[in-house]
Amino acid sequence: MHDESRTGPPSAPVRSPELSGCPELFSWEFAADPYPAYSWLREHAPVFWTRLPSGVEAWLVTRYADARVALADGRLSKNPAHHDEPADARGRTGIPGERKAELMTHLLNIDPPDHTRLRRLVSKAFTPRRVAEFAPRVQELTDGLIDAFAVRGEADLIHEFAFPLPIYAVCDLLGVPREDQDDFRDWAGMMIRHGKGPRGGVARSVKKMRGYLAELIHRKREDPGDDLISGLIRASDHGEHLTENEAAAMAFILLFAGFETTVNLIGNGVFALLTHPEQRGLLQSALVSGDAGEALLETGVEELLRFDGPVEMATWRFAREPLVLGGQRIAAGDPVLVVLAAADRDPERFEGPELLDLARVDNQHLGYGHGIHYCLGAPLARLEGRVALGTLLRRLPDLRLAVDLSDLRWRGGLIMRGLRTLPVEFTPSAGQRVSDVPS
Ligand code: HEM
Repeated sequence: MHDESRTGPPSAPVRSPELSGCPELFSWEFAADPYPAYSWLREHAPVFWTRLPSGVEAWLVTRYADARVALADGRLSKNPAHHDEPADARGRTGIPGERKAELMTHLLNIDPPDHTRLRRLVSKAFTPRRVAEFAPRVQELTDGLIDAFAVRGEADLIHEFAFPLPIYAVCDLLGVPREDQDDFRDWAGMMIRHGKGPRGGVARSVKKMRGYLAELIHRKREDPGDDLISGLIRASDHGEHLTENEAAAMAFILLFAGFETTVNLIGNGVFALLTHPEQRGLLQSALVSGDAGEALLETGVEELLRFDGPVEMATWRFAREPLVLGGQRIAAGDPVLVVLAAADRDPERFEGPELLDLARVDNQHLGYGHGIHYCLGAPLARLEGRVALGTLLRRLPDLRLAVDLSDLRWRGGLIMRGLRTLPVEFTPSAGQRVSDVPS
């Protein structure tokens, strides 16, 4: 096992001989199907110190019980200043603290009491009611995107559907005027490519987004509307308001946290349905029969999040003091990554965890995290997931993969899990828009 006497992070990855049976982590095969490796880690090394592809070393936490404890443990800070980063790794770890821009001081990088204050303020504006009122717009956006490719009989569901839907939805919610939303689509597109675009493209996109948001917040302050940005500006708690920088960082994290996650909820969800025809058939029959369909869609979206959710690992945490997790000593300054994808297939918590069961009810998965950083956008994500998947199955009933499984490529990122493309085919149809059906 690991050196129990060490007081800081080891300079080389610690792998004891009995860990040699672990399937390779972070290879292309791992990106396509990380679950065998996670199953091995859960069993043999549930809190595992490893070197990540970026060069930084971190603990991977893979059991459900340990994951819940870690996500709720205040000794694990979200503030990258607590990272005891080796000098030789500085500047290439990908840990967000390196980018000191104001937009980075947001909910996912701060601890109480700052986190408590900001979260309370944003919760006053981003309410479940605001999300519920937004449902018809999500349906309209969904139908519009499907209209654009339904007559062709084929599409790339990532680029033509899963990618634009959440970006337009969150822009609408925030109050970004429609004529500017394609700029956001381009900037977000650059950011999702994780630096694989033109040199400096991501930094330029973040800069443009920052400039735009600052200007938009300024305009909304002068001329408020019904939108979420105006709500953020108005929100107050015991006389406290968000500053302009805080409001910009909040709008940025809502866009950023709400965008790629939802792309992958739709992409991974459609992929899981297409590769589990029996479950997909059950859902499709229930959807044509009415009420039972909505109920199955609801449990089904939760199950798709558990089975192959968009957030493979929760965001970085750093031990602010020494602690013991799952029997393993963690030193102050060590980075910790909670592997939600592994925890959500833990047989100690879920019956038949490797099975996709859209009707599963005992399903307290960690796909949205746990504790004080629990996903703020979960109601919106659930709405988008239900509308997107339900509408696709209703309007394109014979939807099928247009390529071999072996031709599909998964993105190689650490935190997000999602497909690069999802080529599908179906019988061409103009079809009836769900948003045109009177409710
Ligand atoms: C299926 C889609 C989504 C999934 C799976 C997801 C998942 C998560 C997870 C796992 C966390 C916690 C991360 C951690 O503790 O390290 C989180 C936090 C967060 N999410 Fe989501 N998310 C989704 C969609 C959204 C949407 C649509 C929004 C907003 C528009 C959003 C906004 C946020 C914010 C602001 C936080 C930080 C909360 C805090 O630190 O207090 N998310 N999300």
